[in-house]
Amino acid sequence: MTALLRIDSSARPTKSITRDLADRFIESWRSVEPEVKVVTRDVGQAPPPIVTVDWISAAFTPYEERTEAMHEALSVSDVLVDEVEQADVLLFAAPLYNYGLPASLKSWVDQVVRIGRVFSFDLNRGDFPIESTLGGKSAVVLSSWGEFGFHEGGPRDGWNHLIPHLKTLATKVFGVLDDDFHAIASEYQEFGGDRHEHSLEQARLAASQLGRELAEYRLVTETPLKQPG
Ligand SMILES: Cc1cc2nc3c(=O)[nH]c(=O)nc-3n(C[C@H](O)[C@H](O)[C@H](O)COP(=O)(O)O)c2cc1C
Repeated sequence: MTALLRIDSSARPTKSITRDLADRFIESWRSVEPEVKVVTRDVGQAPPPIVTVDWISAAFTPYEERTEAMHEALSVSDVLVDEVEQADVLLFAAPLYNYGLPASLKSWVDQVVRIGRVFSFDLNRGDFPIESTLGGKSAVVLSSWGEFGFHEGGPRDGWNHLIPHLKTLATKVFGVLDDDFHAIASEYQEFGGDRHEHSLEQARLAASQLGRELAEYRLVTETPLKQPG
């Protein structure tokens, strides 16, 4: 049985395009694997706290040396990391806010990327001391933005820091292979009209198709697309 962690970060509880795309992705997945386990973490509605100096010192203190207050400082993080650890698929329903991650999602990231739980740090590795301790997960980003043309060669090439940021996190920290990172987005929300309708329809179809394909692939292989080397 696949375990899917859905992380919603739209501030809009209703009429949210990213929530709609995630619903379709999951519905499609269920049509292939009805027993798929879905855990929803809605940071759009309940943002995790930002990390503090107390959080940082607790995270960098070995488990057995932590005080009660330190355990308390990490309690939200512990729950969120457990959810990530137990997931086979990380599904980010994530809108573009000010050319980057919604603050609620960034807070989630900062709470989750924990030394000793998600990554290890070893200067013996030279210039790249950080290594994920996770592996075998797929990551899917279902996004929406109000403008358009953020693709390579487009009029806003280089302005979109959401997808590259999530891709770096997924592949460098959450142990997702490059081939197992997928992103779909609807454009033109702020313009409305035919261009938006068309883009939204394409994104809905792509989200449904991806849900089916990834579910079929995992059911057949019982593994992600490739195992980490
Ligand atoms: C706070 C905020 C910031 C936004 N910043 C951008 C932006 O930088 N670029 C853009 O193209 N759209 C931007 N938008 C538009 C959203 O990306 C768009 O409305 C999207 O559909 C929101 O996702 P949702 O429908 O799931 O709520 C912004 C919207 C909000 C509310």
